[in-house]
Amino acid sequence: MLTRIEIDGFKTFRDFSLDVPPFLVLLGRNASGKSNLFEALQFLRGASEGNLSDAAKQVRGGLDQFFHRYADGTTMDTASFAVELSVPETVKDELDADAPVLRTRLRYELVVGIVDSHSGGRSLVLRGESVSAISADGEVIEPLLSQDEVTRQFILTRRDRGEAHVGGPLPVRSVLSTITSAPVYPELVALRQVFSRWMTAQIEPDCVREPSSYDDEREPMTPRGANVANALRRLAVETGTIDRPEGVFNDLRSELHAVVPDIIDLRIEDDPKRRQRDVVFTDRSRQSVPAVAASDGTLRTLGLLTAVHENRGGLVCLEEPENGIHPPHLVNLLEIIGERVRRSEVDRMPVQVLSSTHAPVVAKALTGTDPLRPSVVVFVDVVSRVGGGGPASRVSKILRLPEDSTSAAEPRMTKSEWRRYLAAGER
Ligand SMILES: Nc1ncnc2c1ncn2[C@@H]1O[C@H](COP(=O)(O)OP(=O)(O)O)[C@@H](O)[C@H]1O
Ligand SMILES: [Mg+2]
Repeated sequence: MLTRIEIDGFKTFRDFSLDVPPFLVLLGRNASGKSNLFEALQFLRGASEGNLSDAAKQVRGGLDQFFHRYADGTTMDTASFAVELSVPETVKDELDADAPVLRTRLRYELVVGIVDSHSGGRSLVLRGESVSAISADGEVIEPLLSQDEVTRQFILTRRDRGEAHVGGPLPVRSVLSTITSAPVYPELVALRQVFSRWMTAQIEPDCVREPSSYDDEREPMTPRGANVANALRRLAVETGTIDRPEGVFNDLRSELHAVVPDIIDLRIEDDPKRRQRDVVFTDRSRQSVPAVAASDGTLRTLGLLTAVHENRGGLVCLEEPENGIHPPHLVNLLEIIGERVRRSEVDRMPVQVLSSTHAPVVAKALTGTDPLRPSVVVFVDVVSRVGGGGPASRVSKILRLPEDSTSAAEPRMTKSEWRRYLAAGER
């Protein structure tokens, strides 16, 4: 579970920080930095898996757009990321046995820079990296990965209290991405596993329409929503019990109906000849509607709900779920997802959801009651920043809503700012 993120020097972020609850809606006008925030999380995931430059290629614009750009056109040359999160109490070792994780609240920091590479291009390099066990209030208890201040060598704390020293000059990948031994470094392996379960769903109705091939039976749904029939079938098999043979597939069926009332049922249909399977809906007049003929809103809703169900134990970022979804249905959808997250908090594998939206209807629907209440919605604004070292620039900033009852650290919007935003949305 991600609890906090800090970013400095990446895209629209300077000295940015955000405390993250299990379910959070990021509301903001276009170009305020919502997608940039999701990209920062995807970059951290990529950096925990492979080469830093490859991870940067996954963000829009690649390396050219990676570092914060000032108004005068110059860019920063380092970017820092920090996340605080909790990891599971056990992690699988190479023999699939459970290794205990002693420290489950961790802070991870990653600093990257840019250098000209031999081949004439440019590449990202590791400037700093650390992992610390932290207390509930964020105080560092124990370093697990640190850096010698003089030699700049990385120091890993082993489970047996020994130390390992690694790293030459300008590594092109993170130390974390090289750690594989769960018995020696259980916290770091647990951290890698948590990162590997972060995904951003950008559902495209046309991808949800595609049939799933038998060859991809074990693959998850893709971030765009392809392979959904396989994913749903597997969810039903894996969560089914004698009492509820289709497990959470039943929940998903009623959630879909609650968002798109016209759809009363859905099933997976096999086509053994073509070795593929399809989603088929039943509408209110009891007609079968194959996925190819279903509405964009129905398919997008199905993809978003599947992403949330399939990623139990993970973090799912939902990119502007409103596209193609009837506005009042969007509010229902977010409420249902919020409710699902809240109910999963008691599970062994809770799911966490961050959703971006620029739909004013969401702002108007905030009622002060669960689950879409002012404290689970934050406003993302873009403001001019002057001073603070460096030329002026435009940066993302989080504002709490006026009615937010939490004692969150972020600054709060005034009531008149909020009214102005709502009024502008109506035009
Ligand atoms: N490297 C960068 N430095 C500064 N601003 C950037 C950089 N890369 C993108 N941006 C700005 O970020 C904005 C887009 O942010 P985005 O996260 O896509 O917005 P949205 O909130 O609509 O998802 C654009 O205004 C773009 O100019
Ligand atoms: Mg966006």
